[in-house]
Amino acid sequence: MILLKLRSLLPVFFLLSVSSSYGSVKENVLLQDTISYVSPFAETNKGCFKCHSLKRFEYTDEVSGRQKRGLMLPRMILGKQQFYKSNHKSFSCTDCHSHDFAIYPHPEELKSELHFYCLDCHGGDPAYAKFKFEEIEYEYRKSVHYGLEEKGFTCWNCHDPHSYRIVARNSKSLTEIVAYDNSICMNCHSNKKTFELFSDHNMVNFKRIHKWLPRQKVHFKSVRCIECHGTLGKNILVPHYIVSSDNAVRECMECHSDKPVAMSSLLRNNSNFESAEPLIDEAGLSGIKIIGPNRYRLIDDLSLKIFTALLAIIGIHILIRIIKK
Ligand code: HEC
Ligand code: HEC
Ligand code: HEC
Ligand code: HEC
Ligand code: HEC
Ligand code: HEC
Ligand code: HEC
Repeated sequence: MILLKLRSLLPVFFLLSVSSSYGSVKENVLLQDTISYVSPFAETNKGCFKCHSLKRFEYTDEVSGRQKRGLMLPRMILGKQQFYKSNHKSFSCTDCHSHDFAIYPHPEELKSELHFYCLDCHGGDPAYAKFKFEEIEYEYRKSVHYGLEEKGFTCWNCHDPHSYRIVARNSKSLTEIVAYDNSICMNCHSNKKTFELFSDHNMVNFKRIHKWLPRQKVHFKSVRCIECHGTLGKNILVPHYIVSSDNAVRECMECHSDKPVAMSSLLRNNSNFESAEPLIDEAGLSGIKIIGPNRYRLIDDLSLKIFTALLAIIGIHILIRIIKK
């Protein structure tokens, strides 16, 4: 009960504590999309990174005054560069975490610290209307992963709070989009330690479960997991309804045909995404040569010739056998 109340108050706390620091962010907005982004909180964040970006850390024990050393758990090691390239790069660590983390050893009660959810900040905000957060949440709630919430699964488990950045919407490179989006799934579905935090089952062997799919390497570089495992959200750019594997796409023709239905989300004109209709045109398909929609005339002709030649050889073969008899 108290927790619930607290949670509903979180956005208020956030506004109170962050609005002051946001005033100073404005002048940095122009710098945002350059890699050499300079955070207004670079100095304060350094205090956290000095431990949280390294395998080993040192600190002075308050009681004995002695220098002590420790090993950082791998999942607590954060990439500094990734953080400063992420959507939330303009944040201070303590915008999302308690200021009491400045103390080390961290106070025990912080282990059960509450976190903000995406919609606590983005919900109902016209500035982010184009992302359709509410519809994304609606789709996610139908998803296989929503059932894992009691084990602590949230949007953050796909959107790493310290590295998540927009790719599908902004990138012109299909290869980059596929690589980034698939890494979101693979960070867990091929990482036993992370996976087991949320499941009592053994992790399935990824190659074996997709054995029916030829040229796995080519496929996983050219299409996203969500092309086969997600259903198309009508108004959202990235499908968020992950269906159970019985309902995943297995039909080759859903992609290898003139109408690659299963790929319409990937091939949407991402930068101008407004319409509900998938946009499959020359531009959308650039960078990807899928057998089917934009095959080469030359290859078609060639395969036809090879096929006729084969028929001819078989014909001659039969003829010779008949003559010999
Ligand atoms: C002296 C090294 C050190 C410094 C400085 C430090 N941390 Fe930590 N932090 C750790 C270690 C080690 C852990 C692993 C769990 C533990 O020992 O409490 C940790 C754990 C955490 C956790 C996870 C808590 C949990 O159990 O879920 C968070 C969040 C965190 N630190 C945030 C911060 C923030 C924010 C700062 C800066 C304000 C910071 N830390 C500064 C060493 C440090
Ligand atoms: C946009 C909000 C946000 C910002 C900014 C942020 N964090 Fe976090 N952090 C989170 C959330 C949410 C979690 C819990 C993630 C989860 O449940 O998987 C988390 C978890 C952690 C953990 C524990 C990781 C684990 O796997 O248990 C550490 C350590 C941490 N943060 C340190 C930092 C440091 C250091 C910074 C600043 C460089 C920082 N955080 C900035 C939201 C944030
Ligand atoms: C504590 C409040 C807070 C939380 C929680 C939060 N965000 Fe944000 N988010 C922001 C703010 C503020 C910005 C703008 C940062 C800036 O402009 O530097 C932002 C930026 C973004 C952007 C980039 C928008 C753009 O136009 O470039 C995306 C996408 C985004 N957030 C998604 C998410 C997702 C997904 C989650 C949950 C996994 C989440 N956010 C959680 C406050 C939050
Ligand atoms: C199973 C993994 C997964 C979960 C869970 C998930 N997302 Fe996503 N989300 C993705 C992927 C993959 C992308 C594409 C990232 C990219 O390339 O920009 C994405 C993109 C987004 C975007 C950007 C969409 C755009 O139009 O540019 C938003 C906003 C977002 N997610 C919000 C959420 C919210 C809110 C939740 C929880 C209610 C959530 N996501 C849960 C995987 C997930
Ligand atoms: C943080 C971990 C994590 C991430 C990230 C994640 N998953 Fe999962 N996923 C799980 C777990 C755990 C299960 C449940 C497995 C079980 O116990 O049956 C699951 C279940 C599934 C299932 C259903 C399997 C079935 O039984 O029908 C599919 C399909 C799936 N995930 C695909 C994806 C895709 C696609 C993405 C990326 C967009 C993704 N997952 C991201 C952990 C994750
Ligand atoms: C070409 C379509 C396709 C692509 C691309 C694809 N999958 Fe699958 N996947 C399937 C089908 C179909 C099944 C069901 C196989 C079966 O049950 O025999 C499956 C099974 C799975 C399962 C097993 C679920 C279970 O039953 O426990 C997981 C997990 C999974 N996929 C995750 C992923 C991830 C992660 C990616 C991206 C790297 C991905 N898949 C890419 C079609 C695809
Ligand atoms: C979700 C969409 C999708 C599905 C489903 C799919 N493919 Fe593909 N396939 C692709 C894409 C995209 C490529 C890559 C084209 C490229 O990069 O040139 C590809 C490439 C291939 C290639 C060429 C590999 C190479 O070496 O260039 C073969 C062969 C192939 N697919 C066969 C199949 C078969 C057989 C099935 C059904 C069992 C299937 N595909 C299902 C999208 C799909």
